[in-house]
Amino acid sequence: MGFYSDRVLPRIIRRTCGLPMMTPLRRRACGPLYGDVVEVGFGSGLNVGLYPAAVTSVTAVEPNDTAWRLGRELVSSSAVPIDRSGLDGSDLPFADDAFDCALSTFTLCTIPDLPRALGELRRVVRPGGTLAFLEHGRAPDAAVRRSQRRFEPFQRRFAGGCHLTRDVSTLIEEAGWEIVDLDRFYAEGTPRPFGAIHLGAARN
Ligand SMILES: C[S@@+](CC[C@H](N)C(=O)[O-])C[C@H]1O[C@@H](n2cnc3c(N)ncnc32)[C@H](O)[C@@H]1O
Repeated sequence: MGFYSDRVLPRIIRRTCGLPMMTPLRRRACGPLYGDVVEVGFGSGLNVGLYPAAVTSVTAVEPNDTAWRLGRELVSSSAVPIDRSGLDGSDLPFADDAFDCALSTFTLCTIPDLPRALGELRRVVRPGGTLAFLEHGRAPDAAVRRSQRRFEPFQRRFAGGCHLTRDVSTLIEEAGWEIVDLDRFYAEGTPRPFGAIHLGAARN
């Protein structure tokens, strides 16, 4: 990783993804979680403190050391035990059916081989378990989608490989997850091409 993506980008992400208006959305996304949870693309831990009381442990998959370090205080103050294990959502070092649930917030846009990562999550989450997600992705309106296509090359270059045009909820379904809850809307205070939200839960 270069200096920008290794050291600078995690700080930008912590600031932009950590805006206060995101907190209620994060809380909603975390709502269905319970038991042992694998959180893919843990970042700097912006969901810590929002896990419901029914969550017993969180296993953080995060490739970026700076992001993990930035979250150190949150992790050590967490009521739920959090361990970092695994660096790549597409290649998880866990046994089959090891978790009750998975969580992804603003990460499925970035993982290069998303179908493979969604398959890995299905493998490590037990049958009947839940994938909770809060993501940005393909917009519902054609005009916004045109802007997304225009901005995407810059976004990918400067935001760590982040895609704007991924139809995240459809890709979750195509990977074999059953969508049980889905809300799509534009996030307040965010330009629409970057704030087309897919928030919901899927069953394995
Ligand atoms: C936009 S950030 C979101 C971080 C955090 N989930 C949040 O909501 O603030 C995307 C995160 O995905 C991580 N990431 C990138 N590629 C990944 C991969 N292949 N597997 C798992 N995480 C990855 C990045 O390091 C980064 O922390």
